[in-house]
Amino acid sequence: MRLQITCIPGDGIGPEIVREAKKVLEKVAKVYGHEMVFTDILMGGASIDAYGVPLTQEAIETAKAADAVLMGSIGGDPTKSPWYQLPPDKRPEAGLLGIRKALNLFANLRPAVLYEELAAACPLKEEISKAGFDLLIMRELTGGLYFGERKTVVENGLRKAIDTLTYDEGEIRRIAIKGFDIARKRRKKVTSVDKANVLDSSRLWRKVVEEVAADYPDVKLEHMLVDNCAMQLVKDPSQFDVILTENMFGDILSDEASMVTGSIGMLASASLNDTKFGLYEPSHGSAPDIAGQDVANPIATVLSAAMMLRYSFDLDEEAKAIEEAVRQVLKDGYRTGDIFSEGMMRVGCSQMGDLLAERIR
Ligand code: IPM
Ligand code: MG
Repeated sequence: MRLQITCIPGDGIGPEIVREAKKVLEKVAKVYGHEMVFTDILMGGASIDAYGVPLTQEAIETAKAADAVLMGSIGGDPTKSPWYQLPPDKRPEAGLLGIRKALNLFANLRPAVLYEELAAACPLKEEISKAGFDLLIMRELTGGLYFGERKTVVENGLRKAIDTLTYDEGEIRRIAIKGFDIARKRRKKVTSVDKANVLDSSRLWRKVVEEVAADYPDVKLEHMLVDNCAMQLVKDPSQFDVILTENMFGDILSDEASMVTGSIGMLASASLNDTKFGLYEPSHGSAPDIAGQDVANPIATVLSAAMMLRYSFDLDEEAKAIEEAVRQVLKDGYRTGDIFSEGMMRVGCSQMGDLLAERIR
């Protein structure tokens, strides 16, 4: 199969982790007889430095022309980087939001799995972590507060800022369908998370989710308020299978879910539209403090590449080979700094890439 992949190395540790993911993908191509064509584009700070804007139309076109996009991370340290002296719509993050919108990537899948080998890194009490967990956050990605009208005005001599949260039923329905579809392939449970005790958008969310649920009698649906969900994620994460939620809640809960796995350096994500096209990126940020030192953990990006093979190319066996390589590397005792524990072997980013590639057979 010929796979046309656009890569966005981005900022901070982005270029390092994407390099390792490509290394692993190239090994997959070799072992399974595929041809992979990579084209790089700039986004975020790298694009600001080169073109003065965080995302160019040309970059969008290149991404659109590919079968899938593999991304590292974007952004810098807001207290130090000159990128954050720019107006908000010219900063690195605007590039990421721009490409999500331009490619209509409304469904963001963020799995959070507790690996047996990393159970020691889980910050939860052992009596909670021993139950293990394997959940997936299905986050709406192109609506809500992120894309509502916003402005800052002066009213009666006071500065006033306004952000608006809107959802129409079409936006809710299409993400709910994605949530139920994926639950069907997992443990058949959807927890829809909202703030229906306060927000109108959440009350509509709940109604539409219930309408969609009627077509999935085999999937169990429960509703949960977002504040309670934040609590339940540390109290008993094993209760969750698919968490279905809107953009802002999903942003917050997915960081929480990743932290309870022990390392945000392990978690992949996929952002999908209505077709097979998707953008795949680690759930973590650009970690500018450790950039360029060859100490970053490339596993989240490598696992994002596995998601890409599965969702955009239907290459399930190849995706499993990557996931298996990750498990094997952990079993063999290799760790990057973020997941290091006593008695393990500490390796850098590029060595981790080599070890993973070696284990693709
Ligand atoms: C994420 C990030 C982004 C978001 C930022 C960088 C704009 O936190 O992908 O979760 O808030 O969506
Ligand atoms: Mg986030």
